[in-house]
Amino acid sequence: MPIKSRIRSIPDYPKKGILFRDITTLIKDPVGFRLVIDNLTQHYLLNGVDFDVIVGIEARGFIIGGALSYTLGKGFVPVRKPGKLPADVVSQEYELEYGTDKIEIHVDALKPGQKVLLVDDLLATGGTALAAAALVEKVGGVVAEMAFIVNLPDIGGERKILEKGYSVYSLTDFE
Ligand code: PRP
Ligand code: HPA
Repeated sequence: MPIKSRIRSIPDYPKKGILFRDITTLIKDPVGFRLVIDNLTQHYLLNGVDFDVIVGIEARGFIIGGALSYTLGKGFVPVRKPGKLPADVVSQEYELEYGTDKIEIHVDALKPGQKVLLVDDLLATGGTALAAAALVEKVGGVVAEMAFIVNLPDIGGERKILEKGYSVYSLTDFE
């Protein structure tokens, strides 16, 4: 698959035993980046998912979400790491393999009931995406769907997200 074959796999990054799927080789290739954005754009033009705004997750979710906002003619709202957003924020902690992390969104980022497409590059445990969904809901939004380039189904994030009733779309799986 032209998207999958452009993704590089790095053994033992960031820790021993982890095979890191690296999308930088996909998006530095102009054909690769266009394939990603064209595929997602077509999916959302043709499949009738009703949403008003894209929420992208720092850092790699900004690259995909930003381009997709442009092609679909939707606004873009960033979810950021702590301390980066200048106005009032709400925060959400989430579990990492060791310890916790936190992400934030502006309290006034969404209008009440606004429907959101959540975008990130990759779905692993689902911790980041579920924390971002919680942020969207805390500020009054509704998650219409979550979109990723890569899904790692064996890690279980997709199952967790589907169990919670969210809808997921991804371009490629790595088993
Ligand atoms: C990576 C990736 C997703 C998240 C997926 O981001 O871009 O956001 O991990 O993992 P999960 O499903 O287990 O939560 P990372 O935390 O490395 O941050 P970065 O994008 O700033 O590099
Ligand atoms: N690649 C990129 N980001 C990730 C990965 C990966 O394999 N696993 C968890 N976050």
